[in-house]
Amino acid sequence: MQALVLAGGEGTRLRPLTLSVPKPVMPLAGRPFLTFMLDWLGRHGVDEAILSCGFMSEAVERVLGDRHGEVALRYVVEDQALGTAGPVRLAADHGLIGDRLLVLNGDVLTDIDLTAQIAQHDQTGAAATLALLAVDDTSSYGVVPTAENGEVEAFLEKSAGPAPTDRINAGAYVLERKVVERIEAGRPVSFELEVFPAMVGEGLYGYMAAGYWIDIGTPERYLEATYDLLADRVQSTLPPRDETGSLVAEGCITSGARIGPMSVLGHHCSVGDRSTVERSVLHDHVRVGRDCALTGAVLAERAHLGDRVRVEEEAMVGAGAKVADGARVERGARIEPGERVE
Ligand code: GTP
Repeated sequence: MQALVLAGGEGTRLRPLTLSVPKPVMPLAGRPFLTFMLDWLGRHGVDEAILSCGFMSEAVERVLGDRHGEVALRYVVEDQALGTAGPVRLAADHGLIGDRLLVLNGDVLTDIDLTAQIAQHDQTGAAATLALLAVDDTSSYGVVPTAENGEVEAFLEKSAGPAPTDRINAGAYVLERKVVERIEAGRPVSFELEVFPAMVGEGLYGYMAAGYWIDIGTPERYLEATYDLLADRVQSTLPPRDETGSLVAEGCITSGARIGPMSVLGHHCSVGDRSTVERSVLHDHVRVGRDCALTGAVLAERAHLGDRVRVEEEAMVGAGAKVADGARVERGARIEPGERVE
């Protein structure tokens, strides 16, 4: 089974983290994000994944290489951003696509049952089957009402006001080759705005998925996904956590500090005496001085905090930024990569 993973967006909502590392390989619970998706795809029989890249494509390729477990990796790089459907057409024009393809948004952490989705696709003889998921709050998603037999009745992008259904598009599609062929070549094309709305009544089906699903594309959801992985709320192959539910990579120096609950320290971090790190994420090579307090914070690679620094909920410190002794980084603050904060 072949899959194409959309991994070329700029990830603007996750800045400043995505200014130094692209979202597909952003560390999540200490691992490049896409490795979770590739594990999931491998469990459902995918043996080849085409990674559709654009923004910072070299970094994605350098981190993931040409194989992840049983899944062979290929790369298609866009000169211009082609949206969500355009990259599929580009991969087809490169001769990489067979008769059937899974297409996945590349920023979703999920354990939904793709095998069952493919089985339903076979049974209905659909041209395309989209995974749909019921959520409590549909306001930031497009919704997809379906008929009793699963046929999609409309494809409604996000809008104000009450939605006709709580089922959202989960960003996982099974497509037959004929769908790929109807995507126009050479320009940005959107599945959500163009291809799927035009296919209503022409073999477009929804599969009612169940299970864990989160899009990691905002700071709040990036942290939520981290906590859910640490607490085993989603299936993964994460190594065991410590008694505080935290994951501290080898080579970290933390004696004299209090780490946890629910924190992640990447490789070669150091945290000074009497500092506390709660529900926070440190990427690799982060240094935290003495008497600091971090709560719900994210510090990118090589960020450096002096002594007595406070970093509050959902604050994000960019790669290589330096925060001086005694500073307070307020809730939700964003510090650019390399910035110096007095
Ligand atoms: P924001 O800028 O924060 O909206 O993030 P994003 O750029 O990732 O956009 P969005 O979350 O809407 O994208 C959903 C998925 O599609 C992500 O996995 C993106 O990497 C991917 N994606 C978005 N636009 C493109 C594109 O033009 N080309 C490719 N190959 N992938 C894209």
